[in-house]
Order: sequence, then structure tokens, then C-alpha cells
Amino acid sequence: MGNYPNLSTKKIILAVTGSIAAYKSLLLTRLLIKAGAEVQVLMTPAATKFVSALSFATLSRKKVHIHIMDDDAWNNHVELGLWADAMIIAPATANSLAKMAHGITDTIVHAVYLSAKCPVFFAPAMDLDMWKHPSTKNNLQLLRSYGNIELEVGVGELASGLVGAGRMAEPEDILQHLNEHFDNDQSLAGKKVLITAGPTLERIDPVRFISNHSSGKMGIALANVFAKSGADVNLVLGPTKIKYHLHPNVQITNVESAQNMFDACVEKWATSDIAIMAAAVADYKPREIADKKIKKSADDLNLELERTKDIAKHLGLHKKSNQLLIGFALETNNGEANAKAKIEKKNFDLIVLNTLGDKGAGFKHDTNKVSIIAKSGSINHYELKPKTEVAKDILVEVEKIMP
Ligand code: CTP
Repeated sequence: MGNYPNLSTKKIILAVTGSIAAYKSLLLTRLLIKAGAEVQVLMTPAATKFVSALSFATLSRKKVHIHIMDDDAWNNHVELGLWADAMIIAPATANSLAKMAHGITDTIVHAVYLSAKCPVFFAPAMDLDMWKHPSTKNNLQLLRSYGNIELEVGVGELASGLVGAGRMAEPEDILQHLNEHFDNDQSLAGKKVLITAGPTLERIDPVRFISNHSSGKMGIALANVFAKSGADVNLVLGPTKIKYHLHPNVQITNVESAQNMFDACVEKWATSDIAIMAAAVADYKPREIADKKIKKSADDLNLELERTKDIAKHLGLHKKSNQLLIGFALETNNGEANAKAKIEKKNFDLIVLNTLGDKGAGFKHDTNKVSIIAKSGSINHYELKPKTEVAKDILVEVEKIMP
């Protein structure tokens, strides 16, 4: 069971709607109480068909509200909406999401939702066809546009027996998310951080190019983690197809080629305190870009390539004593020795080494297994973990050497 220190004394409304996944919210309640939160459970009448209010009342040590009007009292939805530090709707059915998206308030859950001044998290749960339906997608889009935070569904076996997307997020993951939400570490406030991410794309002709498998996930995770710690982040991102959310403190510059990335970084480096070079920059580009599609003629075609500019090396050359430069090294063999040589060559203060040989690590994966090597030669090895967690490890190491 995880550790969620930021949830202690937080006031949480847990709203349960009518889905078989409601049983998971019992564990969610228990975890919240264990973490020291105060929990007010609300249920729709449909939810009580799946799990009893008594179970929630026992776990949360509070009376559960099911109706706006009980026999002996009026449950003030406005007051509840103001009381909470966060509201979590879990599970959130397709029906509930539709009501939330359109301001329908026929249950206490929806009336409180509409009155809530706090951040609202919702954990959808439904069958895969309901999940895929365009009306659900539109409602989700609307809910996100109102600033609500979606707790992503899982993929797997559903109560219907079908297999697909639509499982409610796991209680531990919801706690983790909430814990991060309440993390008020602002240790990098006032710092400007430049981060490169993703691949670069070097054009051959109007339809062809040279690129690589980098997804940009590691650099995007870094941008969000540094931004959350108060830094103003400039993310220079090469072409990627992945979907991503950026923290409001992240400013993005989309670039295509190594030259574009170089230009954007050179401009921003002079005013940055820290730069992290997470991009997989192409080392070579075609010497000429053909302005028309190259037609096939002979059996062989030789492309003449020339070196791209080494962005990290350039920033290292122009690094001032109060600036930090962090690099990445992707190695298939002699990892440590090669990474240490790169520290020297590019004037890095830290280098993050990952080896393609590790299962689940590197390109496209959501996880990574790294070692962080300092200029002094000290080295820390880490387990395989989500890139967001790797980003936090890097943040901790950067904070240790900050001037
Ligand atoms: N890098 C860069 N600009 C380049 C090439 C690399 O900024 N043109 C950065 C990368 O973002 C990474 C570090 O330099 O932080 C090391 O990249 P890597 O590709 O491992 O090293 P190379 O210098 O390209 O050396 P080699 O390909 O020989 O391993």
C-alpha cells in the first residue's frame, strides 16, 4: 500500500454513481481514511443497488448522503461543494458524465458537482461500447474543457465479460494522482528550465524523411514535473504523434528539424537556469533537400548526409557558472564509460543513462530504467519505473547540485 502524505487532513467528497465498479470505491474510501483524509461519501440511488450505504458510512465514519432531502434534514449541496478540498466522482457512469456535462442536477451527486468550487476528479467506468460512443467522447471532452480532471480508465476484462477499455481506475492510482495534486513543492519557483524532447525529422524530399522512434514521453514528463515544482519550463518538442497534457507552467515550441531545435534552444539558453536535453536529435541530415519527389531511376540511390549541429555541445560551450546542463545517453554497450565520456565532451553536470537492452525501457515505453551519473563520477542506479517517476528522480538529483 502506498504512502500519500499530502492527503492528510484533506477534505474529500467521494461521489459514487451506479456502476458495478462501485465496490472499488470501498477500497478507495478506506485508503483515503488511512491517508488521514476526511471523507464525505455521496451516492446516487442507483449506486446503493450495487454497494450499501452502510458499508461506506462504516468505512468513512460519516453518514452517507443519498438524497438532497433526507427524512429529517436538507443536505446543503452548496455547503458541501464549498467544504471540500477535492471532489472525486468514482465510479462515474456514462449517464452521470452526461448529466455533469450538461448541468443536470437530479441527484445530490450532480447538485454538489455543480456547486463545487474545488478541483473535481472523475473516474469513468462503463462497458467498452458505451466508452467508445461519440456521445460519451463528446461529454468527456466537455468535462475536460470545464477543468475537471479525468482519471483514466483501464483496459481489461469488464463486468459484461467483454474485454476492452472502460474499467474504473484502480484506487491506488487515484490516491497517487490526488497525492500529486496536493503536492505543493515549489522548490524551483523562479527558475527557468529549457527541455528538449522527441525526435527530430530531417527532410529528404517533399514526401520522405529521416527520423527515429523517440516519442517525447520522457521529456514531456520532465517538463510537467519541473513545472509542478514551480519552474517556468520551455519545452522544445520535435514531431510526435502521442497525446499529452502540459502543466500550465510549460510553454511549448514545436520544431521539426535538428536545425529548428538548435535555433530555438540557442535563443532560450541565455536566459535559462537549467537545460535538459532529452531529445533524440538526428545526428545526420541530407546534405540537400530535393524540392521535388525523388523518382526511382538506377538500382541504387546514394543519399549524401551531413552532420547536424550538436545542440547539447553548443549549450555546454556557452554554459555560465550558474547554469546547469543535463544530458541523456542512450547506449547499447559500454554504457557507463560512454556516458561519462559524454559528460566531458558536452560539459554536462549530470547525465541520464538508459540502455536499450532493458525490457520496458527507452523509446515509446511509458517506463524507463536509468542510471544518473554526476560530473564527479558518482552514480545512482534506479529500478524500472514510469517515466513520470523517473522525471522525479532526475528532479531530486538536479536539486542536489543546484547553485
Ligand atoms: N544531443 C543534442 N544534439 C545532437 C545530438 C545529441 O543535443 N545533435 C544531446 C541529446 O539530447 C542527449 C545527448 O546529446 O542529451 C547525447 O546524445 P546521444 O545521441 O546519446 O549522443 P551523441 O552525441 O549523438 O553520440 P553517439 O551518437 O555517438 O552516441
